[in-house]
Amino acid sequence: CGIVGYVGAQSALDVVIAGLKRLEYRGYDSAGVAVLADGKLVSAKKAGKLVNLEKELVAQPLPAGSTGLGHTRWATHGGPTDVNAHPHLDNSGRVAVVHNGIIENFAALRAELAERGHRLESETDTEVVAHLLAERFEAVRGAGGAAGLAEAMRQVCRRLEGAFTLVAVHADEPDVVVGARRNSPLVVGVGEGENFLASDVAAFIAHTRSAIELGQDQVVELRRDGVSVTGFDGAPAAVRAYHVDWDASAAEKGGYDYFMLKEIAEQPKAVADTLLGRIDASGLLTLDEVRIPASVLREVDKVVIVACGTAYHAGMIAKLAIEHWTRIPCETELASEFRYRDPILDQRTLVIAISQSGETMDTLMALRHAREQGARVLAVCNTNGSTIPRESDAVLYTHAGPEVAVASTKAFLTQLVACYLVALYLGQVRGTKWGDEIEAVIRELSDIAAAVDRVLETMEPVRALARSLADKDTVLFLGRHVGYPVALEGALKLKELAYMHAEGFAAGELKHGPIALIEEDLPVVVVVPSPRGRSVLHDKIVSNIQEIRARGARTIVIAEEGDEAVVPYADHLIRIPATPTLLQPLVATVPLQVFACELATARGNEVDQPRNLAKSVTVE
Ligand code: G6P
Repeated sequence: CGIVGYVGAQSALDVVIAGLKRLEYRGYDSAGVAVLADGKLVSAKKAGKLVNLEKELVAQPLPAGSTGLGHTRWATHGGPTDVNAHPHLDNSGRVAVVHNGIIENFAALRAELAERGHRLESETDTEVVAHLLAERFEAVRGAGGAAGLAEAMRQVCRRLEGAFTLVAVHADEPDVVVGARRNSPLVVGVGEGENFLASDVAAFIAHTRSAIELGQDQVVELRRDGVSVTGFDGAPAAVRAYHVDWDASAAEKGGYDYFMLKEIAEQPKAVADTLLGRIDASGLLTLDEVRIPASVLREVDKVVIVACGTAYHAGMIAKLAIEHWTRIPCETELASEFRYRDPILDQRTLVIAISQSGETMDTLMALRHAREQGARVLAVCNTNGSTIPRESDAVLYTHAGPEVAVASTKAFLTQLVACYLVALYLGQVRGTKWGDEIEAVIRELSDIAAAVDRVLETMEPVRALARSLADKDTVLFLGRHVGYPVALEGALKLKELAYMHAEGFAAGELKHGPIALIEEDLPVVVVVPSPRGRSVLHDKIVSNIQEIRARGARTIVIAEEGDEAVVPYADHLIRIPATPTLLQPLVATVPLQVFACELATARGNEVDQPRNLAKSVTVE
C-alpha cells in the first residue's frame, strides 16, 4: 500500500492526491484521504483506482485544510470495497488512520474493543488502530500529556503485533501528523514550513529532496516547523537524513504512453549506469561498496540467493554465473519458501538478497533468518536506504533509477548486471581457473549496453507479432541453461500484463510431460543458446524446436545473429546480438518484455498497473 501525510501551508488534499498518484504502483484496489479543516476531520474513500476517488472529490468536494493524509491500497484483510478502503475513523470521527502491513493480533484487539462498546464497521485490521488511538489520546490528554497523538501512537504500537506502517491525524491536534513504522517503509520529507510522510520519496519529490529515513519501531511527529522521532518506548531516536539524488522528472512518463515503455527504453542506460565506476582502467572489478573483506569472501563455501518474482529469475541466472566463475556451490530459492524449511547456513555462507524495492517482506524475512544463522548477507537492490540493504551486511546498488511500472523490466536487467559483477568479483578475489574468461567477460560487459540498444531498435516485428496473437489463450516459453529463467521471465511478464495462461519450461523437460500441451497453432517461444558457447545445448534445443513444430506448434524463435541452424524451424525469428553465453539473458529478455507489453495493450489491459498486483509487496 502507499501512504502519504502532509502538514504545511499548501492545500493538504492537493499534496496528498498528487503524492498518491506517485504511489499507485504500491497498490490500487481503493484509495482514500482525510483532511483537518476548521477543527473538523473530513474524509473520502472509494474502491478502485485513484481516479474514482478524484471523481468523488469533484462531485462532493471536501473543505480545504492544511493537514491531511491519504492511502492507496493493496487489499489484505477485507475485499477492496468503499468501506474497507482507508482511512479508518473511530466512532467519534475525530481520528483518521491509514495503514500498510498486517496487524496479526487484530482479532483479539477487535474483541476487546467491542467489549468496551466500540462499533467497528469494516473487515480490516486497521480500524482497530483508529479506535485504540482515540482511547489512548483521551487517556494521554486526561493525564495532561502535551504530545497527545504521538504518545497515544506509541502506546498503541506497543500493543500491536505484525508489520505495520501507520499514519494518523486527530481533530484535536490540527497541526500534527503522526507516523509509526515497523517493517514496512516510511520516509519523512523535510520542507520549509511544511513536512511530508510517505512510503516512498516519489510522493514528495516535487516539493523537497531532503529526506529522513525512519528506523524500525519508531514514531514520528510532524509539525509545520519540525519533526521529532522517538522509539516506541518514547526515547528520542537517532535518524539518518539524506538527499534524494533523482528529481521528479525521473518519475514522469516523459512522452511515453506507459511507464513500462519508458523503462524498457531506459535499459541501455540503466545497464551502463550499473557498471559505471565498478571496473577500473586495468579491467579489474572494484566493488568498494561490498564491505565484506576479501579474506571473508575467500572462505565462503556456499552461496544462497533469495528473491521473489522477477528478482528470483535474476537469481536463477546468477546461480549459473556464480557456480561457473567461482566453483562455489550456489542455490537460488524463492524467499517465501526459504526460512520455512530450516535451511543449512553458517558463517561461511554468503546469502544474496535481490530486490528492486528493498521492501519485499518475503525477502526481508529470508534475510533476517539468514543473519540469525550467522550467514553474511549481500543485498542487490535498486532503492537507496530501503529496509533490505539497511539490514544486510553489504549492498550493491543497481542504478536503474525509479521503476514505476508494476512489471519489472530495467530493474531485472540491472539485477543481472549486479549479479554478474558479484560472481566475477568472487572469481577475481578467489583466483579461479577461469581468470582469462573473467577478464574477457568484463570487457564484453562494457559493450552490453550497446547490444541492448540494438535489440530495442529491431522490436517492430515483435510488436506486430504480439498484436496478431491477441486472441490466443496460451503461450508457452522454452529455454535451457540461462535461457530457462529467461523463459520463466517471459511467461511471468505475459501473465502479469496480458492475463494469459503462460508457462515457462526447461526445454529438455518438455518430453516428460508439457509436450502434451502442444496443439495446432499454439504459440511457443523458444530462447536458443549461442551456437558458439555450449554448442551441445544449442543443438539439443534445435531438436526440441523440431519436436514441437512436428506437433503443430507455431514456433517463435529467439536466436543469435548468424545462427542459421534455427532458420528452417522458425515460424517467426527474433534476432539478438551475439554475447557470451552467460550474458545472453541481458539481450534475450528484452523482446519478451516488448512482446508482453504490446499484447497487454492489444488486449486493452492496463500496462502499468495490472489487476490484483502491486509493485512492492510488503506483506508475507
Ligand atoms: C512483486 C512485483 C514483481 C517483483 C516482486 C519482487 O511481486 O509485482 O514485479 O518482481 O514483487 O519485488 P522486489 O522489489 O523485491 O524486486
